[in-house]
Amino acid sequence: MINLTKEDYEIFESIEKIREEIKKKYIPIKVIDYGAGNPENERSAHTMYKGVEKITNTFEQCSIGLKEKWAEIIYSLVKENMPKKVLELGTCCGFSSIYMAKGCSSSLIYTIEGDKNVAKIASKNIKAASCSNIKQFVGRFQDILDDVLNEIKEIDMAFIDGHHDKKATLNYFEKIKPFLSEKSIVIFDDISWSKGMIEAWEIIKNDSMVKEYKDLKKLGICYFY
Ligand SMILES: C[S@@+](CC[C@H](N)C(=O)[O-])C[C@H]1O[C@@H](n2cnc3c(N)ncnc32)[C@H](O)[C@@H]1O
Repeated sequence: MINLTKEDYEIFESIEKIREEIKKKYIPIKVIDYGAGNPENERSAHTMYKGVEKITNTFEQCSIGLKEKWAEIIYSLVKENMPKKVLELGTCCGFSSIYMAKGCSSSLIYTIEGDKNVAKIASKNIKAASCSNIKQFVGRFQDILDDVLNEIKEIDMAFIDGHHDKKATLNYFEKIKPFLSEKSIVIFDDISWSKGMIEAWEIIKNDSMVKEYKDLKKLGICYFY
């Protein structure tokens, strides 16, 4: 991994300032969760597709996602590899998209979020961070991933960070594979999060297309060259 500079740390500080500002407003928000819930939940495909409604606030919602060393890793991967097109599954409040977008201004980040209220918060955060290289899509991965893939055409990097269900994760991986460019990288979050994710990661890292992988316990990084 590359060495980070003083400028990089200033960028991280400015991103986290945006997170702190919105968190402290405690704005209430109604969210529909299309994901797997928590590791003990065994949500059916039908329940996940329908979604589970919950009332939360910007403090809780903006606390979700990559932070500190994990956010630095994803930033560094983009800075080092300068991918032309990055696909992200799971925008949430936009912070991982912002880290990736700041890693390389010529990279274009295509990010998908299922919940429209969460996507609105992400949109505000992306604006506050002045990132013009993020393209947001709102909809369930199950419904819109095919269209987004057809729009991107060739993916240089993907970050899979939503719907942590074994079957769903493997399905998204299979859908993404034909679109990967020659020297692509696919990153999975929460590879040790549940029995299902451990099993999914075991299959993914042994896929014949994966030339090398790094198991960081939380993030799993697959290199396709
Ligand atoms: C862990 S959060 C993403 C965090 C974000 N990548 C970050 O690090 O800042 C996962 C997001 O994926 C979304 N999500 C989960 N399952 C989904 C699905 N099936 N379709 C669309 N969005 C989904 C959730 O609404 C949630 O906002």
